[in-house]
Amino acid sequence: LDNGLVRTPPMGWMTWERYRCNIDCKTDPQNCIGEKLIKDIADKMSDSGWRELGYVYISIDDCWSLKNRDSKGRLQPDPERFPSGIKALADYIHARGLKLGIYADLGTYTCGGYPGTTLDTIQIDAETFASWEVDMLKFDGCYSNSSEKALGYPKMSQALNATGRPILYSCSWPAYEGGLPPKVNYTLLGSICNMWRNYDDIQDSWDSVLSIMEWFAANQDILQSAAGPGRWNDPDMLITGDFGLSYEQSKSQLAIWAILAAPLIMSNDLRTISEEAKELLQNRLLIYIDQDSLGKQGKRVAKVNPLEVWMRELVDEQYAVAVLNKGTDGFPKRFFMSLADLNITKCALGYKVYDVFEQEFLGNVKPETQIQMNINPTGVFMLFVRPASNRFHPL
Ligand code: DGJ
Repeated sequence: LDNGLVRTPPMGWMTWERYRCNIDCKTDPQNCIGEKLIKDIADKMSDSGWRELGYVYISIDDCWSLKNRDSKGRLQPDPERFPSGIKALADYIHARGLKLGIYADLGTYTCGGYPGTTLDTIQIDAETFASWEVDMLKFDGCYSNSSEKALGYPKMSQALNATGRPILYSCSWPAYEGGLPPKVNYTLLGSICNMWRNYDDIQDSWDSVLSIMEWFAANQDILQSAAGPGRWNDPDMLITGDFGLSYEQSKSQLAIWAILAAPLIMSNDLRTISEEAKELLQNRLLIYIDQDSLGKQGKRVAKVNPLEVWMRELVDEQYAVAVLNKGTDGFPKRFFMSLADLNITKCALGYKVYDVFEQEFLGNVKPETQIQMNINPTGVFMLFVRPASNRFHPL
């Protein structure tokens, strides 16, 4: 969508995967969906180095509203959980240089059973969100059929545009239609949405990450051409810092998401996150790769069981390469690969090669040089490659 927003994939944080529909602020005040949680996370994002790295969107997912609209037909936040209201929350977030996201659902109800947005309430809801000075809308798709979606998603895009406020528009539409043509029209999506969920919800497990990676690889030709500045495929939230992934698996999710030019939207607890998880999520080179200005989604380029090679082309003849070890037999795999194997051969002077996770310069290599890698089970080895003539140092 050409609204000037997200020329590189958005980065931020979202409630859903970690906090779900926890509305119990009486017995779980730290973790319930309410303004306290959002403010706590906003404080962390602005004082623990997240914002400076680009993590600026804080997004409230499902279960924020009351079960009924107000007397004027507007959605209203639950006053017990959001006593100051959404506008005041937006002010709090903007004062910290961050942006606020909210959630609605095209249908009679949200997936969690809260009031939905039907075709006749799209306009008033867009106006309400704009009046609260919200910066992003995730528009889910429970409880509507395909023809309602075909009308409702473009209609919300127009309604948001008509408010005059730039609002990042995230569409769940394709995820409800199987994610593939002919049911999904990616050209249309790219013209009405800034990003979209293509596939299943992420869960806090390695299996879930694997199945998302597999689906994105299986359909990569279709998906690659759908993505670009202002319009991104969304393989769903980052779960690094939660409970389901090991350290190696966290690296793997991050590496593949960066190769996919995916939005980097965490769902975790920034108040209690481990130093280890924080370091991974704050890896500058990884973020640099994800945020590359060419905006070209990468692909899986080879399978050498149990290894997979994924690669993304970046601006100025630079590349990101991730070798993933899907093996579960418990020992690291050794692998040799040259840049020529990946068709990276144009620069006569050769290339500088960096290990993204060790944050280390590995050396200048010629296209034919064999690069040795050791890749831990369910882990990844990620390289950043740039022409030797490029003077800028990324670390
Ligand atoms: C389904 C979406 O895909 C999830 O990301 C989340 O928004 C839930 N609905 C909320 O009910």
